[in-house]
Amino acid sequence: MADDATRPRLLTGDRPTGRLHLGHLVGSLRERVALQGTHECFNIVADLHTLTTRPRAEQIRELPHNVRDMVLDLLSVGIDPEQTVIYLQSGVPAVYDLAILLQMLTPTARLQQLDSVRDMAAAANIEGQMSLGLLGYPVLQAADILMARAELVPVGGDNLAHVEIARELATRFNELYGPLFTPPQARSSRVRMLPGVGDEDDRARKMSKSVQNAIWLIDDTATVRAKVKTLDRAGLAAFADAFVADVAEREALVAGAEGDTSEAALVDAVCSAIERELAPIRARRAELGDERGRIEEILVDGTISARQVAYETLQRVRELMGLESLWEGLVAATEARAQARKSPYG
Ligand code: TRP
Repeated sequence: MADDATRPRLLTGDRPTGRLHLGHLVGSLRERVALQGTHECFNIVADLHTLTTRPRAEQIRELPHNVRDMVLDLLSVGIDPEQTVIYLQSGVPAVYDLAILLQMLTPTARLQQLDSVRDMAAAANIEGQMSLGLLGYPVLQAADILMARAELVPVGGDNLAHVEIARELATRFNELYGPLFTPPQARSSRVRMLPGVGDEDDRARKMSKSVQNAIWLIDDTATVRAKVKTLDRAGLAAFADAFVADVAEREALVAGAEGDTSEAALVDAVCSAIERELAPIRARRAELGDERGRIEEILVDGTISARQVAYETLQRVRELMGLESLWEGLVAATEARAQARKSPYG
């Protein structure tokens, strides 16, 4: 393993709102696993971000369970806590501080343009009453990315605009206060989008946990097959493209889906490709069993590492902005006065 100091940093992650599905796998999880050997990796469990659309007490009470399921899913796809820092966002207070400072550099008009933010408001039925927190979603995400000084951010298409905001904020910060941040690069997987499974409406939308049109990583073989069978030819072609690893076989199937390959053969090919990928995931999950203690330990260890990194960055930010010297100056002046009071005759 290369020395951490020489490896570029990578950061990505998800909101803990439910289990992970095949869309996550093709959109980003595969890349996270593949890049573990070459990058210093951070995987955020973005619980604060869930509050942007789910702030109610009963929704917050679901978090511990969802966080645990998410970590279990991450471990089962092969994210290795020895190589990737898996951490809980709300456990890193320096991120709140950094987010506030970055807000000062963010034009609200820039955020109001974003489809992603408007789509999230629509999905949560709060279009007319978007909170400042939801509008600021991308700024908090930029704080996550920049606190780790991440250079690479593997995300799905819906998050590309947020990485762009992080780039703009990095550049703006550097212009105003001095060079600190390398503007982070987004990275999308080869497969940009996986359609949902189910009825016509479900299939017209991308696979998503909120629509419940997903094949979950925990689905068993029979369930996967039943769901694959709901796909039409176009859907089967998209799945073949996403899951068949061999390039020649993949291209032949995608071409065949337009005409001469039977639907039954497409279903078989897609199912066996999915099974090949899910089998080791299931095996790892079975191995982990219900090791609640192990999962908590991984998350706590990761969060402690993330805190350290975030605190270092925040310190640098405060120094460059002049906030640290302001504070230190006040402390020094106060100490000098206290000394003078204690020994008034020098
Ligand atoms: N916005 C991501 C999602 O859609 C979660 C997230 C929060 C994230 N902070 C991040 C992703 C930083 C990449 C980098 O769930």
